[in-house]
Amino acid sequence: MTTEPTAAVNDGLGLDEAVKAATLSTPEYRQCPHPYYKVLREQAPVVRLTPRHGVDTYLITRYEEAHAALADPRIGKDMHEGIDLYHALFGDACETLDDNLLFADPPRHTRLRHIAKTAFTPRHVKDLRPHIEELANELLDRCPTDEPVDLMKAFALPLPVMVICELLGIVGVERTEVLKWFSVVTRSRFSKDMKDDLVEAEHWLRDYFTEHIRCTRANPTDDFLTVLVQTRHEEEALTDDELVSMIWVLLFAGHKTTTLQIGNSVFNLLTHPEQLRALQEDRELMPQAIEELLRYEGSVETSTFRYALEDVEIGGTVIPQGAIVQIALTGANRDPEKFPAPDTLDITREHLQREHLGFGFGPHFCLGAPLARLELEICLTALLDRFPDMVLALPDSDAGDWLKGPFPAFRGLEKLPV
Ligand code: HEM
Repeated sequence: MTTEPTAAVNDGLGLDEAVKAATLSTPEYRQCPHPYYKVLREQAPVVRLTPRHGVDTYLITRYEEAHAALADPRIGKDMHEGIDLYHALFGDACETLDDNLLFADPPRHTRLRHIAKTAFTPRHVKDLRPHIEELANELLDRCPTDEPVDLMKAFALPLPVMVICELLGIVGVERTEVLKWFSVVTRSRFSKDMKDDLVEAEHWLRDYFTEHIRCTRANPTDDFLTVLVQTRHEEEALTDDELVSMIWVLLFAGHKTTTLQIGNSVFNLLTHPEQLRALQEDRELMPQAIEELLRYEGSVETSTFRYALEDVEIGGTVIPQGAIVQIALTGANRDPEKFPAPDTLDITREHLQREHLGFGFGPHFCLGAPLARLELEICLTALLDRFPDMVLALPDSDAGDWLKGPFPAFRGLEKLPV
């Protein structure tokens, strides 16, 4: 059975309207998708949207179904298999860079992930702590205290990308260049008018990463990149092209997600003063506060594109082979059947803490979760210590200007004036 939208009303919002808003990603939906997800969860938890690029598209919003889909091997991610979604979305640009584990299926994904996980040791993450603390404090030192500051620009944006560069051993002038070209790629990806810029930036980054890998091979240490270069899975190391794509995915997957999560976390604490006070008074609550903030308003709104390798039944709906499957992580994280009173931010929630889907689930569970948790802990601690009286510089309604990109992949703030 396929759940087709039928007219119904929930808090004044109908199912057809919710499906339309999700398909078109309307401004109202981008500003606050939660009422739409509520209707979808209740009436059509696995729903067929209007086809995307001519391909059938399904959206999953309920926790149980989302959880099942994320772990289902019949739902794949390799965008070059089955339907060539990659070319429909991006043309030829960045293909080599995107040929990475985020868009791979087993056995290739198993091998790439094994090697990446071996290199991403707890020690490498722990070693970054003093550096992240220093960086956070340096950025906050530069913030004026007598006028409003856009915390996204001054703090949340620069910090994560610098941390990943540090992990990858990209330092000094080279770091500035990498960041410049990287921002060209992120700006031009979805713009038809900027294809030339995109290709130029892609070439620059690919050449730079290739050279960086060559230098690491020639001068091995015990840093992250050396381990990545040397680790083997069943006797096979990563090829140079695979290493380039791996560096790219770490930069790509690790920066915007963390930037937006810092912003969402600060915004939600400032707009829930009783929760902020509880955290100020008891810093032991920090780890669970971070998990609750990820559940309440995660920065990854829907999973990256997946598609059905065969007909797959989820929650009573058959998703036909070849259809795109989108999983609304933020919708699942507000499912009342999983999280009681889901629209309440409660940093003292004790159970189910790490069961939110903010970092995904299954074989593609976020590889950088330990690093992201460390960055969030350091950022929130530094802000609470240094600016205990911080308040929003605009009313909540004006300060919460959420990103309005073409796809609801990310959820986060454009600006956060404090
Ligand atoms: C995958 C969220 C930070 C590296 C994912 C996925 C989510 C996610 C939801 C799964 C995507 C899917 O299944 O389609 C987040 C959030 C972060 C964060 C909310 C910050 C708060 C980071 C950082 C890094 C990183 C700091 C690395 C430096 C990755 C990689 C994958 C991934 C490599 C792909 C794993 C695979 O496909 O096997 N992340 N992430 N992430 N993340 Fe993160």
